[in-house]
Amino acid sequence: MGVESFRAFRAVTDGESIDRGLTKMTADELPDGALIEVHWSSVNYKDGLAASPTGKVARISPIVPGIDLAGVLVDDAGDLAAGTPVLAHGYDIGVSRHGGFAEYARVPAEWLVPIPDGLPARDAMVVGTAGFTAAMSVIALEDHGVTPDLGPVLVTGATGGVGSTAVGMLARLGYEVVASTGKPAAGDYLTSLGAASVIDRAELAQESKRPLESMVWAGAVDCVGGVTLANLLKKIQYGGSVAASGLTGGNGLPTTVLPFILRAVNLLGIDSVMTPIDRRRAVWQRIATDVRPDGLDRIGHDIALDELDRVLTAILQGEAQGRWVVKVKR
Ligand SMILES: NC(=O)c1ccc[n+]([C@@H]2O[C@H](COP(=O)([O-])OP(=O)(O)OC[C@H]3O[C@@H](n4cnc5c(N)ncnc54)[C@H](OP(=O)(O)O)[C@@H]3O)[C@@H](O)[C@H]2O)c1
Repeated sequence: MGVESFRAFRAVTDGESIDRGLTKMTADELPDGALIEVHWSSVNYKDGLAASPTGKVARISPIVPGIDLAGVLVDDAGDLAAGTPVLAHGYDIGVSRHGGFAEYARVPAEWLVPIPDGLPARDAMVVGTAGFTAAMSVIALEDHGVTPDLGPVLVTGATGGVGSTAVGMLARLGYEVVASTGKPAAGDYLTSLGAASVIDRAELAQESKRPLESMVWAGAVDCVGGVTLANLLKKIQYGGSVAASGLTGGNGLPTTVLPFILRAVNLLGIDSVMTPIDRRRAVWQRIATDVRPDGLDRIGHDIALDELDRVLTAILQGEAQGRWVVKVKR
């Protein structure tokens, strides 16, 4: 295969401490699967957890984190020929097998998505798992009858990876997007992505005893969970839907059943990790075409492998604004 040694960002856990940084690896250290020359990866909240000793995400040590990767197939694999631009994300990648923060990776052929024509690999990684999750959320709202003419749609955690891409995707599809953020300085960024208005996340963060509030939003893309999700459910219009994917605000859900049984509100669960490959490829076709968010340039910030240590800490501290994309191939 001709891959003698390559650069990798690796994390080694020892009890409560972690040693992480750039190292050299050989192909023998990679698991079985189709060999990919990795050109781009990206940084997700889950990568921060996988590279932290208390994150409870990594199942192996040492691990090359990176749940997203994009590059070129080195040999024929499955239905794809050598040289095909491919991406892969989710499943066990960067969790219980080495992921995208290295110049080479091996991934089972049945997990591979050929990168759709016209979508540069960097843009695919600006989207990445976070944007794929946003696209699944938007498509779930569509599937449940949330259309742009029904009224505004809320996006929580709006400056983060899922949130930023969801704002861009919904705006592209013609929805009136209300972006909820805890970053007061991010208003211009969010309107540049297509948000019609911006609200302070504090408005949704206080627990209240009222089981229902005035109906405001036709739907919501929520990656925050917790009290925020419980509060926004109280304000969803009759028959509206909420796509829930995350827990940056907590994994509890202090709600009553009233939004569901009095207003026919739908709570739609979104999982990107185990999405079957046919569905995965179909969603990526939409990401490359009508659901592709405007402003991928503004959403993505390029970093090098040796900047990962800093960025993996920052994402766990809620500092993400858009998406950090890792330029792996020099
Ligand atoms: N279900 C799935 O398959 C799937 C896939 C991808 C991600 N996720 C989950 O989705 C969530 C977001 O992922 P991401 O990659 O977008 O992360 P991210 O880039 O770190 O963005 C998360 C955003 O949430 C907001 N936030 C942070 N702390 C908060 C708090 N205490 N209360 C309320 N809001 C807070 C911040 O936005 P503002 O400052 O703008 O409020 C932050 O930028 C994570 O929980 C992740 O695990 C799930």
